[in-house]
Amino acid sequence: MTNLPPEDQQKPAAPEKTPNPRREFLRSATLFTGTVAALGGGLELLSRRPGAVAESVQPGLIGQAKRPLGPYDAKDAVTPYEQATTYNNFYEFGTDKADPARLAGTLKPRPWTVKLDGEIKKPMTVDIDTLQSWFPLEDRIYRMRCVEGWSMVMPWLGFPLAGLIRRMQPTSKAKYVQFTALLDPKQFPGQKSAVLTWPYVEGLRLDEALHPLAFMAVGLNGRVLPGQNGAPLRLVVPWKYGFKGIKSIVRITLTEKQPKTTWSIATPSEYGFYANVNPKVDHPRWSQATERRIGELGRRPTLPFNGYAEEVASLYTGMDLRKNF
Ligand code: MTE
Repeated sequence: MTNLPPEDQQKPAAPEKTPNPRREFLRSATLFTGTVAALGGGLELLSRRPGAVAESVQPGLIGQAKRPLGPYDAKDAVTPYEQATTYNNFYEFGTDKADPARLAGTLKPRPWTVKLDGEIKKPMTVDIDTLQSWFPLEDRIYRMRCVEGWSMVMPWLGFPLAGLIRRMQPTSKAKYVQFTALLDPKQFPGQKSAVLTWPYVEGLRLDEALHPLAFMAVGLNGRVLPGQNGAPLRLVVPWKYGFKGIKSIVRITLTEKQPKTTWSIATPSEYGFYANVNPKVDHPRWSQATERRIGELGRRPTLPFNGYAEEVASLYTGMDLRKNF
């Protein structure tokens, strides 16, 4: 199978467990008011100190998350953590949405190194905790729109990609950024199947990567990023379809030429390099005009650039977005 399934547009939507919208609102709201009741002991949380790494603290501290400012806060109700961590696409664990949560225990996010190389002044391999300590951690609440026609609202913890790119000191030849995920069939049982070419790779144009919305996540809902969501380091590009958000990154390479990307290798006629959310450009097999927000009934209209047009549309001035899908 080399195609993302058209999900709910070809079969009835899977019944959600959360039909009570008021309760959902309260759940989302409590995340930010410090009134979260005991969630069970021993959760690993991240503190907001610059350079904080995983540490075990009382679950109640989850309420210290702050709503960030402006476009960094999607304003929408946050998707409940249990849904954001059990309905996942992570083909390294399998093609079923439930596979990643079921199998993510095989992924060992520490120790972990990230290779920084290509068109940069000083290539290096850096430990994830050192890399994380270079930047203060920030909260971002971003919409995430999957190309399959569903969406979530995710409270990420991490740092802007631009800071990392600047620290890498690009040479004048650097025009693109390539991201590579871990290749290890022992940790990723799905890599024993040829469903995609491995490792998973993704890319951005350098100006996209330098945009303040482009983000590297190390946490979710105030906790260390779970394996199924891409531990220990994943990309988040909220104006693009979710497949651009490569998980479990081990290498970041600045390149002169446009890098290959996993889904465009698999099906170039369906998944392009840019993958900007665009309700006017349908997928060849289904409409992109609407989406199902996980936890909601019915469908809502999809917004150009996933609602971030004001911030990012100028990156694509003069480009034919039908050709550059
Ligand atoms: N990253 C890797 N390494 N492997 C994958 O299969 N799937 C992508 C993206 N990143 C994927 C990946 C797709 S299709 C989507 S929609 C998002 O991850 C889903 O992210 P989430 O499970 O955290 O919601």
